[in-house]
Amino acid sequence: MHFLYVLWLLVAEAVFTQALQPKDPSDPQKKYLVTNLPGLYDNIPQDEIPLMFAGQLELYPENNTNYFFWSYKDSHPLPENKKRTIFWLNGGPGCSSMDGALLEAGPFRVGPDEKVLYNNGSWHKAADMIFVDQPGGTGFSYATAFDTELDQVTRDFMVFLEKYYEIFPEDLDNDIYFAGESYAGQYIPYIADGIVRRNRNLTEGQREYKLKGLLIGNGWISPNEQSLSYFPYAVQAGIIDTKNPAWGDILHQHEECQKVVSRIDSHFDGKVHDFEVSSGTCERVLTKMLTATKDDNNMCYNMYDYTKKDTYPSCGMNWPFELKYVGPFLEEDAVVSNLNIQHNQRWEECSRNVGSSLQATNSVPSVHLLPGLLQEMPIVLFNGNLDIICNYIGTEGFIKKLEWGGQVGFSEGVLADWIYNDDVAGYIKSERNLTFVNVFDASHMVPYDKPEISRALIDIITGNFDSKEIETQGDEKKKAIVTYPLGVRRAKIEEDEKIAKAKQEEEEKEKAKQEAEAEAAKAKATATSTEVASSTSESTSVPSGSESAFPEEYEKSTTVNRITRIIQLLVIVVLIWGIYILYMSYKSGPSSIIKTGPSTGRKKNVQWADQLRRFQEDDEEAQNQNQSFLSKTLGKLKGGDSRGTYAPAPDSYQEDIELGEGVTEHTNTSHFEDDNASASADAFLIESEDEEDDLSQHQTPQHDLNSIDVKKELTK
Ligand SMILES: *[C@@H]1O[C@H](CO)[C@@H](O)[C@H](O)[C@H]1NC(C)=O
Ligand SMILES: *[C@@H]1O[C@H](CO)[C@@H](O)[C@H](O)[C@H]1NC(C)=O
Ligand SMILES: *[C@@H]1O[C@H](CO)[C@@H](O)[C@H](O)[C@H]1NC(C)=O
Ligand SMILES: *[C@@H]1O[C@H](CO)[C@@H](O)[C@H](O)[C@H]1NC(C)=O
Repeated sequence: MHFLYVLWLLVAEAVFTQALQPKDPSDPQKKYLVTNLPGLYDNIPQDEIPLMFAGQLELYPENNTNYFFWSYKDSHPLPENKKRTIFWLNGGPGCSSMDGALLEAGPFRVGPDEKVLYNNGSWHKAADMIFVDQPGGTGFSYATAFDTELDQVTRDFMVFLEKYYEIFPEDLDNDIYFAGESYAGQYIPYIADGIVRRNRNLTEGQREYKLKGLLIGNGWISPNEQSLSYFPYAVQAGIIDTKNPAWGDILHQHEECQKVVSRIDSHFDGKVHDFEVSSGTCERVLTKMLTATKDDNNMCYNMYDYTKKDTYPSCGMNWPFELKYVGPFLEEDAVVSNLNIQHNQRWEECSRNVGSSLQATNSVPSVHLLPGLLQEMPIVLFNGNLDIICNYIGTEGFIKKLEWGGQVGFSEGVLADWIYNDDVAGYIKSERNLTFVNVFDASHMVPYDKPEISRALIDIITGNFDSKEIETQGDEKKKAIVTYPLGVRRAKIEEDEKIAKAKQEEEEKEKAKQEAEAEAAKAKATATSTEVASSTSESTSVPSGSESAFPEEYEKSTTVNRITRIIQLLVIVVLIWGIYILYMSYKSGPSSIIKTGPSTGRKKNVQWADQLRRFQEDDEEAQNQNQSFLSKTLGKLKGGDSRGTYAPAPDSYQEDIELGEGVTEHTNTSHFEDDNASASADAFLIESEDEEDDLSQHQTPQHDLNSIDVKKELTK
């Protein structure tokens, strides 16, 4: 008895001291929490304020490489967000993923007053979104050395992922998707390939990255083949015609590009050939074409959306006009500080340094990685149909030649309409894990023009759609892929299930009733003849009812009762002792077991505040070690809403702000005559693209160029 008591105490003490191990008070996630932004509490519906983390993760101290990320998690995740993370990358090379965050798929847009506005088509309602500026030197990702090849980019991103998941290990439970656009058509397959190889060769303690699919919008995937589409696309769209004086010159350039592509087609030997990676000959088709569209008002076609025009030679680089709010927004001290940026560099949409370094002259174009990747996961290639620079004809063109899943191109008859919310949103071809989507009335930046529709691309890659046959005129049948606004399909499915369940229950009831009736009839018929037999079988089937067993059972149960009472007493004593130990230990160290704290009736929707409160509780516990247990608990109960009062201390960002670089920097003087010339991707002013009436704003010459450059550096 006494021995047992001591044993209990030992066990109890072990358990409690384990629970009381002081926890590191500075949670690593705390540094990255985003708690305020200009306009956040005024313009965003409170229920829609996401839980956000942002900041720079150091990859390499040797060359000061830090990757900036900004993540958004829905405060009230819908059932559709089945633990998914989407990493979003913009292109360039060197263009910031803040384009994606603040002009496309993120929850906020930026208004003329440089405050955030709500984007009701945000992708974060369907998946956790993480926008990453990469490679080093892009956007807020600081670096003093720049990548030159795509395998470097991949290696760096793998390091970024390791660092990210060290801080957010719970995100490893999520399925992972990559999404992005333009030159990310190179990044994404490369990084995906890196992840697949990592998953095949995990080292001790590493967990798998559950990569489930890729979404690439207006991707630059097979550069030269895609350039071959400029001429046919422009003719089809009516951008140029035979009456144009430059017609012959453009046609000639197109033929030169055709020669390059023919050489590529005859050299599928897995080697890197210059004619495949140097794309100057082919890209000059676009340069010449846009130049040929210059009109008397010095306007040319917007290469990202041919229904719009821009001043020559920008031809789209000033677009979208909201860029002129995004830049100043990201330069605001309050924003820089709230995004936890420690190592500041002035934000530019596209970095010249990154673009001109990443020539990728020894990297195989990513189109060659697609067949291998398609054996592992679905890939959706989508195109806004108004884009010239990475147009849909080019994407369909290289798919036609691509061999994957044991066949070249799509089969006949895979074409389907894409219906979203009862309207035709585009068309879809899908087979052997590859899906092509042409999105109607959308530009190079599909989520910019079509936020809600673009979000349904997540439904397409995750299979959350209905396949139907629809009737067309003349009795023909047409395939359709049908997606719905958030929650609509689930509601439909739930309704159908309810009806089906009710029907099934009804049927079962009916059946049971019939069976019971049949049984009763049968029993009635046999009752008189088998009375004796049935009574004997009854007695054998219930042996515990036997009288002889009773006293022994009773004796056993009273002994059991006595033991139970002793154990109960013991437990009570141990509990009291345990609470005493708990109290003593608490006095001498911070506790983690009461960390979750009592509910304080706070607004459920400010999720970051919950997170922050947990962080602050940890800190308070560390600080207030001498305070009594009671007063600390009371302090927690009072809770104090910290909304708006917390702004992470701006450590050292100010000293690094590159002043004096402002407006004057835009007068950049580069020449783009040969293939190796570096592009001045960042040499543009941000102005309105609102058609002819604001021509007066377009007078500032932005490029001292003889011709425009539309190298891949510009494909954001
Ligand atoms: C989302 O915003 C757009 C543009 O303001 C609007 O047309 C659309 O109806 C809104 N959708 C919902 C679901 O509120
Ligand atoms: C930066 O340093 C790391 C570590 O030494 C190296 O792996 C990486 O390639 C460097 N980056 C560049 C662009 O040189
Ligand atoms: C697997 O990883 C180990 C250690 O990182 C490395 O040495 C080895 O070359 C890798 N194997 C393959 C097949 O990639
Ligand atoms: C498609 O991807 C799945 C994994 O998502 C894989 O199991 C399957 O084999 C792939 N199909 C083809 C045709 O490669």
